[in-house]
Amino acid sequence: MAATGTILVVDDDPAICVVVGEALRRQGHKVKTAASIRERSALMDSFVPDILITDVMLPDGDGLDGVADIIADRPDLNVIILSAQNTLNTAIRATEKGAFEYLPKPFDLNELTRAVSDALGTRQGSEEPEGEPGLPHDGLPLVGRSPAMQEVYRTIARVLSNDLSILVLGESGTGKELVAEAIHSLGQRRTKPFIAINMAAIPRELIEAELFGYEKGAFTGAHARTAGKFEQAQGGTLFLDEIGDMPMEAQTRLLRVLQSGEVTTVGGSKPVRVNVRIIAATNKDLPLLIEDGRFRQDLYYRLNVVPIALPALRERREDVILLARHFMERAALEGLPRKTLADDAAQLLMAYHWPGNVRELQNLMQRLSVLSRENVITAEILRHMLPLDAVPADYAAPADQLAHAVREWARRQLGIGLAQPNRALHDDLLAVVEPILLQEALASVDGNQIRAAGLLGINRNTLRKKLTDYGLDPMQLRLND
Ligand SMILES: Nc1ncnc2c1ncn2[C@@H]1O[C@H](COP(=O)(O)OP(=O)(O)OP(=O)(O)O)[C@@H](O)[C@H]1O
Ligand SMILES: [Mg+2]
Repeated sequence: MAATGTILVVDDDPAICVVVGEALRRQGHKVKTAASIRERSALMDSFVPDILITDVMLPDGDGLDGVADIIADRPDLNVIILSAQNTLNTAIRATEKGAFEYLPKPFDLNELTRAVSDALGTRQGSEEPEGEPGLPHDGLPLVGRSPAMQEVYRTIARVLSNDLSILVLGESGTGKELVAEAIHSLGQRRTKPFIAINMAAIPRELIEAELFGYEKGAFTGAHARTAGKFEQAQGGTLFLDEIGDMPMEAQTRLLRVLQSGEVTTVGGSKPVRVNVRIIAATNKDLPLLIEDGRFRQDLYYRLNVVPIALPALRERREDVILLARHFMERAALEGLPRKTLADDAAQLLMAYHWPGNVRELQNLMQRLSVLSRENVITAEILRHMLPLDAVPADYAAPADQLAHAVREWARRQLGIGLAQPNRALHDDLLAVVEPILLQEALASVDGNQIRAAGLLGINRNTLRKKLTDYGLDPMQLRLND
């Protein structure tokens, strides 16, 4: 039997208060609701909730304001933040204020009830993270609001105040390095160095010298003692990029360093203590490499304390336009001509499968900003720049195609609008479109009304009524064509 508790839900959207309130009451919790910060404070004077669930954008201010104080006052209270501002910033702010959980809107009710039972389960011995004021949150680098990115933001927010090892996974160009940089520059080590080393870019035989440093004379060309990346990153973050390409011998040595916290240079004997946070990244399937005997399982466990899996761009198509606009905006800020995306171009970008992920999109937008003479980027222009065979010919969903056609038509009509009254534009559009759809449906099934209704997903009586209303004769439609 799950624990029940008292819950205060704060949201200015009455629908959310009702839905969330009902769901929680059904599980046996006692629930009150408030629509503003003022109401929240007033209620909290008399009502002592175990959990506060609050929206961020409230009519009288920012719902996160005051949360840190509430928690300071009532350390056993758990706060769950709901927000439609689905950015990394919100996730971080919520975590900093000591919120127990952050749920981006639209949220899944199951997720919320799970968060509530988790919160009730951990009520005792709460150990709230210290709110760290003044983090440089502006100009956050990661763009995207898809659920998959929300998950990424939440994980990032959770690792900023600790030193857990992180393994960033994802296809090429999905932003692995950007995530590593964000964790460093927002986290507690941000005033210390961020050092990156790419295992795939360094000759295998030099990797150990690069990582751990070397003594003078350790090998031909070693003219002076040189600090390795570990020492350079002292106090900061070491980003081990393309870790899947690290040779086995170097892996063994790396593991020893991670276990002991000490580095010995190549050719040296005196170990140096190092304090670095490790973030590793790869686009390889490490468990597969382990099976093949090309990656050490123990090292994998050591690195993979917190995995962050970045989604491929094609798995979060809802972010494509946001990213495209972001890159166009950035080009404009750099002084290149400002471009906009036509609707059909946006459709095409969403339909494309982006094998090179965000990097490919970024390159495309940059090229367009530099090369295209048009200020409005159309699908026609894009088709010259994207691999044509990779773009499905029917890239627009039917409803989008129709919307597009109607928009073109409306624009044309409005262009000549002064010459004639244009009632059809407004009132009669449906009366024009719907009969065409009915006629085509009937014609395609030889006038069979039951099948036509089935094709349109409406019931037969509705179909018959519509035919009468429009004065259509199904028997004649059969003879069409
Ligand atoms: N969410 C994002 N928002 C804005 N820019 C992004 C995002 N993700 C990636 N980028 C940009 O796309 C480019 C590729 O990102 P990054 O180098 O981090 O990818 P990667 O996963 O490390 O790729 P690879 O596996 O090829 O090394 C960078 O210029 C980065 O700034
Ligand atoms: Mg990279």
